[in-house]
Amino acid sequence: MKLFVEKDYEKLSKVAANIVKEEMSKKPNMVLGLATGSTPEGMYRELIRMHKEDGLDFSNVITFNLDEYVGIDVEHPNSYHYFMKNILFNHINIDLKNTYIPDGKANDLEKYCEEYDELIQEKGGIDLQILGIGENGHIAFNEPDDTLNVGTSVVDLTQSTIEANSRFFDSIDEVPKTAITMGIGTIMKAKKIILLANGKKKAKVIKELLREDKITTQLPASMLLLHPDVTVIIDEEAYQG
Ligand code: PGA
Repeated sequence: MKLFVEKDYEKLSKVAANIVKEEMSKKPNMVLGLATGSTPEGMYRELIRMHKEDGLDFSNVITFNLDEYVGIDVEHPNSYHYFMKNILFNHINIDLKNTYIPDGKANDLEKYCEEYDELIQEKGGIDLQILGIGENGHIAFNEPDDTLNVGTSVVDLTQSTIEANSRFFDSIDEVPKTAITMGIGTIMKAKKIILLANGKKKAKVIKELLREDKITTQLPASMLLLHPDVTVIIDEEAYQG
């Protein structure tokens, strides 16, 4: 794993956006794996700036999001569909037909998950995957457990994730208890991965990850140690040395 420790969140966001830009310049029709949550928001802001000021062209880019809550409508303000439109898609020249986010209201969820993985492969596989990390070490919604799913699946959220995400909802009772998430195998198939983390809250889990000495399903992000091209980009607050 490569590690970049940046001065602050703004710098981290710029470094991440520059990596995306660089990959886009090599392959304008790249397949980009996207994450939601607070961490990548600064990177998205920087990508929007690059589009508006420097003409960064998203017209041929294809995107796949990591996850979505089950049972939530795409128009719901807390859906990841809504989040992505609001935070990125509405501000760049991406073709919405090229943006894929799991459908939390699919009729046959199991079949839908299989098809999501197939579609990623049909489009050529993910060239660059953006990841955040949960305080509990989850990546996407792959929560610490005795086993982890290989492919895209429906999963139960842990109480700590429900609590962490309740900040976006009016009350904790409104947070969905299940989600569709790309599996660890889906994520590991990405050709290149960047994992972003900022702030003191992430320092403990980042320290564990950077030990690079153990792979355990209890720290799902540790699976990334097996991937040949992962760059971890964090700010000084998330770094404990
Ligand atoms: P955050 O979430 O970016 O909102 O901290 C990251 C995650 O839970 O994966």
